[in-house]
Amino acid sequence: MAHNNMISKHLDTNSPRSAAAGDSLYNVDQIRRQASKSLLEGALTENYPLDVEKACALLNEALATEILCVLRYRHHQVIAKGISSSDIAKEFAEHAANEEEHMIMIAERINQLGGDPDMNPATVASRAVTEYGHGKDLVTLIREDLVAERIVIDVYRKLVGWFGLEDPTTRRMLEKILKDEEEHANELADLLVANEDRQERDAH
Ligand SMILES: [Fe+2]
Ligand SMILES: [Fe+2]
Repeated sequence: MAHNNMISKHLDTNSPRSAAAGDSLYNVDQIRRQASKSLLEGALTENYPLDVEKACALLNEALATEILCVLRYRHHQVIAKGISSSDIAKEFAEHAANEEEHMIMIAERINQLGGDPDMNPATVASRAVTEYGHGKDLVTLIREDLVAERIVIDVYRKLVGWFGLEDPTTRRMLEKILKDEEEHANELADLLVANEDRQERDAH
């Protein structure tokens, strides 16, 4: 069956099919053959252009970080005390729910790539790029969360660049997470200013 595609450039100049199809971006016969092999690998095809083990390792580090962020925000939600603490606890709860979504998105992507999403609680803290924290008062809690958000923003920016054009599905997921983390950081920065001012007033 003739199969003409209009996309220019070609990946495989040696195959008869691509020669017949002229200036083709891909070789349909070869792609069909590869796609019907290794069906258990699901979305992961032979043409996945990145080092898939490295991709999963990077995503597993992000996964550990998200799990730690869920735990830290949930802890802060429960222990937040003081004037206006209920509003802030609500903010912590919202962020925790977002981090939980990130956690699931990343875990599902690792699974799609054929890796094992590592949720082992014994190693989460050592694999995460952020810390659980030790704060007790509201201002310290907010500051710990803000530091963590600023760290993950830098890490996600780097990950977006690494996945780049090679794996647009993972990149788009990371861009969505990065956008959420930037919003979290903005909200925490506002909360920090308001609560530092309040703490200062209370001290006088
Ligand atoms: Fe997150
Ligand atoms: Fe966040």
